[in-house]
Amino acid sequence: MNTKTLIKLSDRCYWNPLTQTISQDNHALILTSSMTKLLAILIEHHDKLVSSVDIFFHVWDDYDKEFNPKNVRNLISNLRKRIPCLVINNYYGGRYVLKKYRDNVPDITDYVLEILDQAKNGITISDPNLPDNPIIFVNEAFSELFEYTPDEVIGRNCRFLHGEDRDQIALKEVKDALIEKRDITVILRNYTKSGELIFNELTISPIFDKKTEKLKYFLGVQKNVTAIQKLIQQIKRML
Ligand SMILES: Cc1cc2nc3c(=O)[nH]c(=O)nc-3n(C[C@H](O)[C@H](O)[C@H](O)COP(=O)(O)O)c2cc1C
Repeated sequence: MNTKTLIKLSDRCYWNPLTQTISQDNHALILTSSMTKLLAILIEHHDKLVSSVDIFFHVWDDYDKEFNPKNVRNLISNLRKRIPCLVINNYYGGRYVLKKYRDNVPDITDYVLEILDQAKNGITISDPNLPDNPIIFVNEAFSELFEYTPDEVIGRNCRFLHGEDRDQIALKEVKDALIEKRDITVILRNYTKSGELIFNELTISPIFDKKTEKLKYFLGVQKNVTAIQKLIQQIKRML
């Protein structure tokens, strides 16, 4: 086999794009035709998001069949079981990414997420290109502060944190800044899952795609300033 034409998927695993076959330790791995088609599109789009819908239409030939994301999930999980060395990540909204194998190069995305998780302040990332600008990432500090697990908040707009307490001038400022795609810092009254009041010094920054200059994400940083805000209120009452 000419190894130059092969695509390396791990230190023991190779994909032959000409024959659409995969081998491990020089032995061919037998895959079903659906798995092979799935693997081929993931490899073709490595390091990029591939949606469940795209996978469905490339893998199943019967176009009349109603789309069923469960089929795609099961197929991905079978592929992972059959070829455990593959790194296929799931993303919000039924999207998948096959990570390209790189010899001894750390995965920067994983490092960045680890760093964000270790940050002292809450960190949220939202996707303004999805309906109602939902949260797609929260770090551990956010979960600890507001008592919500990532599963409970991902897919929702962050406004649930101020609940019914909407009579806050700062909320209009946030709304305007998001529309105008600019940075903003405000202090909001927010509430934990158990209903405790938190004064949240929130900074939101738009993140643009360097090449297309299109808005990609909003990054939110949540800082708990409850103690200092309560002190300020006490002093004001004393004056
Ligand atoms: C990345 C990001 C983080 C946000 N974090 C919070 C937050 O911690 N608390 C909060 O009350 N609102 C937060 N918001 C603001 C709300 O999601 C929403 O934009 C705001 O309520 C104004 O919009 P609305 O009038 O449609 O509700 C955040 C928004 C973004 C984009």
